[in-house]
Amino acid sequence: MTVNQLQNLFNLDGRVIVITGAAGLLGQKHAEVVAAYGGIPVLLDMQATAVQNLAVDLANKHDREPLALALDITDESAISRSCQDILDKFGRIDGLVNNAANNPKVEQSDTKNFSRLENFPLEVWQQDIAVGLTGAWLCAKHYGQAIANNPVGGSIVNIASDLGVIAPDQRLYKQSGLADELQPVKPVTYSVVKSGLIGLTRYLATYWADKGVRCNAMCPGGVENNQPEEFLAKVNSRIPMGRLAKKNEYQGTLLWMLSDASSYLNGAIVSVDGGRTTW
Ligand SMILES: NC(=O)c1ccc[n+]([C@@H]2O[C@H](COP(=O)([O-])OP(=O)(O)OC[C@H]3O[C@@H](n4cnc5c(N)ncnc54)[C@H](O)[C@@H]3O)[C@@H](O)[C@H]2O)c1
Repeated sequence: MTVNQLQNLFNLDGRVIVITGAAGLLGQKHAEVVAAYGGIPVLLDMQATAVQNLAVDLANKHDREPLALALDITDESAISRSCQDILDKFGRIDGLVNNAANNPKVEQSDTKNFSRLENFPLEVWQQDIAVGLTGAWLCAKHYGQAIANNPVGGSIVNIASDLGVIAPDQRLYKQSGLADELQPVKPVTYSVVKSGLIGLTRYLATYWADKGVRCNAMCPGGVENNQPEEFLAKVNSRIPMGRLAKKNEYQGTLLWMLSDASSYLNGAIVSVDGGRTTW
């Protein structure tokens, strides 16, 4: 490898990278690093205005022309149409970041806590699976197939979670003064969706390997985002580095996974969690 090639190992120069959930807390950061390293982010989210604004912002800062697409990743015909639109506009897709997910939120009443397994509503289960798992598969089905048709292949990154690797420690969510049956918990769908994404990663890593398509999972730990002090103290004590992540601390790993810097990385499940899953 020449010095020049080595220095450009992380460049995404002109690569078209589809990012789902691009308008969210981490999606914006994924899009930013793709644009900063020369890629063309295709910003996909249900929030039409937010995703349009992000495209304008990235275009101004990075001299790129990102494409913003407002769509629901549970709608297969919308995905299929958008895939054709992307191919018409750019002629190729080089990468996919399966990042969109529901952050399962469940109602509470004085007598029932619906986050608990025994009360968890079937329709919330179905919605969470539909976005986080079925949506990721549908995106792989269409955008992933387009990457497999790309003569140079490409990279799929599934955004799982440390909670795809370990069980949630429900003691973190405990509230004093509440009876056991009313205690809130991390909903079951979060574990199921994130573990499922790890299975999808392994499947895809072998499925199109002969077409040059790599697939890896990043498993981020929690991000600092104005959580109550009491919660932070508890969660920090379970992380060897003693803190949650800043929202920009996943950008380096994503860039590595999307670029040629990880050209032999395939089927890896990479925890980026301050060491939480090591304990
Ligand atoms: N934030 C964290 O602490 C953390 C930790 C570990 C893993 N993760 C994972 O990282 C990813 C991003 O997390 P985040 O904190 O940025 O979430 P977020 O809720 O801020 O963003 C999610 C985005 O997905 C979009 N979205 C939801 N349903 C959609 C659908 N059906 N079609 C299209 N777009 C849809 C939302 O509009 C939103 O913009 C998620 O997969 C999440 O589970 C987050």
